[in-house]
Amino acid sequence: MDDKDRGAPPDLAPPKGTTDLLPPESWRVSRLARLAMDTFAGAGYGPVDTPIFEHTEIFERGVGATSEVVGKQMYTFTDRGGRSLTLRPELTAPVVRAVLAANLQRGPLPVKLAYAGPMFRQERPQKGRYRQFYQVGIEAMGSALPAVDAEVIEIGSRFLASAGVETTLLLNSIGHVDSSCRTGYLKLLVEYLEEQRDRLAPVDAERVHTNPLRVFDSKEEATRAALEGAPYITDHLCDDCAKHFESVRALLEDLGVGYELEPRLVRGLDYYTRTAFEFVDAGGQQGKAARLGSQNAFGGGGRYDGLAESLGGDALPGIGFALGLDRILIGAGGGPDDDVAGGPVNAYVVAIGAAAARPALSLATRLRASGLGVDLDLMGRSVKGQMKDAARSGARWAVILGDAEIASGESTLRDLTSGAESRVALEDLAGLLAP
Ligand code: HAM
Repeated sequence: MDDKDRGAPPDLAPPKGTTDLLPPESWRVSRLARLAMDTFAGAGYGPVDTPIFEHTEIFERGVGATSEVVGKQMYTFTDRGGRSLTLRPELTAPVVRAVLAANLQRGPLPVKLAYAGPMFRQERPQKGRYRQFYQVGIEAMGSALPAVDAEVIEIGSRFLASAGVETTLLLNSIGHVDSSCRTGYLKLLVEYLEEQRDRLAPVDAERVHTNPLRVFDSKEEATRAALEGAPYITDHLCDDCAKHFESVRALLEDLGVGYELEPRLVRGLDYYTRTAFEFVDAGGQQGKAARLGSQNAFGGGGRYDGLAESLGGDALPGIGFALGLDRILIGAGGGPDDDVAGGPVNAYVVAIGAAAARPALSLATRLRASGLGVDLDLMGRSVKGQMKDAARSGARWAVILGDAEIASGESTLRDLTSGAESRVALEDLAGLLAP
């Protein structure tokens, strides 16, 4: 093919709202995801992995057609077989689907699962808001007891603290869909919003009948002002929901998890029932009102006691959360080891002279096979160049091989922090270098 037939070269930048994760940033992301999965595993949450795309109706029926996410942000496409598929914007509905598909709800309960992976939403990109972003999260399904709510929330707040972000936990109960509390309350709320209709921003006025609770999520100044005297769901909970909420709060106090009650917290997805919570940035200067925007939320979650049934399955109460890794990394800032490459490379094999190159590769391979992180030059660098590359690699040790060393079955081991050197027999290296 001629050059002119190839057309213009492709744009090498990743699509809008996405990024290429490369070292050292990619190290931070993978470490944080591992820390999350280990924390979750420590409480009995096993890993779950579902497809990146699902049948669109899983989100339409699970997350809810009136939610922003489903209504405006999904990457939906028709495949060659004419099926409507959607890149997952969140993982709660897919996880519940997977549990029902495998009939795990008939086995030992609760089913406790944890995940880490990319989600996709076509939002207007800005700092902390992307079209492909990374979540870690857990879901506990099968128990309606308040103890699960407390367990889940405590795990989220402990992980965020160990990730180095300062958060405030906002807590609310939005009642149960089937009980009189939510239905009765919605009537009151719609009446109030009707009275205030002239003061609401147009986008919120439209929601009054389609999704009145969501008006609390509004970022519009006019709407916020109009909501000043609005009735709160927490004042209208039925006895069961009120009791549940009270127990959750008492248990959180037992566990030493601090929270702020936020009666305007409604969350953006339609499946929520009862407990709803969000971990927001406590480090920023934003006031309480500004907090309710979603950008400063490191994560959130809640109960979804009706979700399994809306997917056509058996009744299966559940609760979980998802946390945005991208936002946590912004909030945590750079850690002490972020300046170096940060990889798990412990030693760098330096070859002096062309004859040492082959034994150097063999030595690096043997050390790797014994479980050590080892790097070496693959560019034919000078010794000086190799020493520089060793420093860049983040290795603690340089293992130097020259003619003299090879002849005696030894290497010169240099501590790259102190500069101290010693001769070490090759067979002793692995033991000495083990971190
Ligand atoms: P969510 O509030 O939609 O909940 O998302 C959780 C977190 O994911 C957000 O607080 C934020 O940190 C992050 N996130 C969401 N959208 C973006 C974006 N465009 N760019 C960067 N980060 C983003 C859920 O997804 C529910 N599935 C949580 C849940 C689990 N509820 C029950 N179980």
